[in-house]
Amino acid sequence: MEDQAEKLREIMKRKKDSTNVSKTTSSVKSNVKADKARIITVTSGKGGVGKTNLSVNMALAFARLGKKVIVMDADLGLANVNVMLNMIPKYNLYHVIKKQKTIREILVETEYGISIVAGASGFSQIANMGEEDRRDFIAELETLSNADIIIIDTSAGVSSNVLDFIAAADDAVIITTPEPTAITDAYGIIKIIATEYDSINVGLKLVVNRAKAAVQAKSVADRMINIAGQFLNLKVDYLGFIYDDTAVQNAVLRQKPFMVVDPKCKASICVQHIVDRMDRNKPGDSRGFGKMLRRIFGSSNEPSI
Ligand SMILES: Nc1ncnc2c1ncn2[C@@H]1O[C@H](COP(=O)(O)OP(=O)(O)O)[C@@H](O)[C@H]1O
Ligand SMILES: [Mg+2]
Repeated sequence: MEDQAEKLREIMKRKKDSTNVSKTTSSVKSNVKADKARIITVTSGKGGVGKTNLSVNMALAFARLGKKVIVMDADLGLANVNVMLNMIPKYNLYHVIKKQKTIREILVETEYGISIVAGASGFSQIANMGEEDRRDFIAELETLSNADIIIIDTSAGVSSNVLDFIAAADDAVIITTPEPTAITDAYGIIKIIATEYDSINVGLKLVVNRAKAAVQAKSVADRMINIAGQFLNLKVDYLGFIYDDTAVQNAVLRQKPFMVVDPKCKASICVQHIVDRMDRNKPGDSRGFGKMLRRIFGSSNEPSI
């Protein structure tokens, strides 16, 4: 755990030296027109705690509310949104970066009413792009702005790309399990966000996954929220919990979302609650995908601060 925190600090230090995405980015303007998409990132400190399951099933629940939803796989190491949906996308963001494909061409419709963008190796390339290529790439990504919801399934918190996404999102969902190691690592991420970014603009939301009971989840959440408030002066909202449920494992084995395999299982009902709550609490001023991209990748159209 200490290793993880150390690694994060190191990354953030390097970032500070080399980029201008820092505490003041909230004043960045955008000239994007159709920029309504609500951006939700799903992240965790520790791997294997349920990010991909939450991303995909949350997407389905939003789709059932009539929303147009895209899930973007930004997990560099373990790109597995497609595995969970039993799909083998031929192309990913890498091909967009290389200008071999447009984003529309790599967007894959699933049989579940949601679309996915395979990120895979694409995201790690972004840092090395030249100004013009980067602008073209942002313009490509922006064509996704007409979705209602874009859910970004990130890797566990050690990459600086991921931290940028979290900081620029409308809703940053942090997921943990009740295990002490997962809690400590989740807190590590929250701490980095609080210290490195303009945290006032980050709507941090906590989900406790694999809980045995509602009271257990609530006590985990209360503890984290209190510590974040007390030591980081940071408001974190409790978004809800998901039961530890064998239906999840069964669905993963069948490479289908558990909301589809077993819509009445405990985990499905929990995800439905989470999404209903999110839908009721829309961000007042959605920052939109275009603005988010500019915050993250920078653009010559924007004043750098
Ligand atoms: N609510 C749950 N109940 C039971 N098992 C779960 C639950 N959530 C996740 N799992 C198990 O954990 C594994 C990892 O989940 P995944 O969503 O792939 O995590 P991550 O994306 O964070 O690495 C799943 O394959 C499943 O076996
Ligand atoms: Mg995953």
